[in-house]
Amino acid sequence: MSVGCDTNISEHDFIRLVNFVKAGYGIDLEGKQFIVQSRLANYVADCGFRNFSEYLEAVFDDNSGREVANLINRLTTNHTYFMRESEHFDHFREVFLPQAEKAVKDHDLRIWSAGCSFGNEPYNLAMCLDEYFGFRQHDWDLKILATDISFNALRSAARGVYTENALHDLPEEWRRKYFEQRSHGLYQVKESLRSKVIFKYHNLMEEIGFKKKFDLILCRNVMIYFDDDTKSHLCRRFYDVTEDGGYLYIGHAESAPADMPYVKQKPAIYRKEVSGK
Ligand SMILES: C[S@@+](CC[C@H](N)C(=O)[O-])C[C@H]1O[C@@H](n2cnc3c(N)ncnc32)[C@H](O)[C@@H]1O
Repeated sequence: MSVGCDTNISEHDFIRLVNFVKAGYGIDLEGKQFIVQSRLANYVADCGFRNFSEYLEAVFDDNSGREVANLINRLTTNHTYFMRESEHFDHFREVFLPQAEKAVKDHDLRIWSAGCSFGNEPYNLAMCLDEYFGFRQHDWDLKILATDISFNALRSAARGVYTENALHDLPEEWRRKYFEQRSHGLYQVKESLRSKVIFKYHNLMEEIGFKKKFDLILCRNVMIYFDDDTKSHLCRRFYDVTEDGGYLYIGHAESAPADMPYVKQKPAIYRKEVSGK
């Protein structure tokens, strides 16, 4: 850490930062001053800023987007793991896929993992798809879209390398089938499965410009950091890009907005009613 750097955040600067992150990314950092300070202190000092105010000015003035991307990498909470909230994977295999197989006539199944973090969620879905469709998958387009605002998380997700521990909750057969061992207890998702997931930067606060509607959107443990208004707008936008009869999965610890346009099917599982019903 460089000498003479004051990494304490003043109340005024903290409010400026909270407002900036909330307006641009939806994440509500209010009351998290200590966490924010601890996540940024080393970086601010190592980069030679004299104090936090100077660092903030660099973030606000940065036209390259690099400083902001760095800030977001540090402030997002990317905790994730395989088989998280396994009820969703049960529903996916037992309800969603049999319905979709009948309903999706052009065989272009559209699944979006929104806020995918390190990729565990979309790879987990890809494993379920591979198992469910087997040889039939050659007649289908089963690519999964996976998006996030953290470039660090997206880079790591695209590599698909995990520790042996991280694979613990996956069935033994899947570990053998979908991963290959690399050095030092690390395992990489096989290329055949990695090629089924398309990772992209997308900020959920911005317009959803993807070409076709989705049969399933997963936005799990992301809205937990958003306030009610932001959640409500986002669910409305998700709804507009969901096919009739399509689903939204949210995290079990998250509450749906009061004006949730989808119909609740089960805890954390919502459906867009088929028109005419
Ligand atoms: C806790 S992780 C959840 C990962 C995964 N969905 C799960 O349930 O395990 C939340 C992720 O949401 C991302 N995120 C937060 N705000 C976002 C936004 N405005 N747009 C896109 N992703 C966002 C974060 O970068 C982080 O990777």
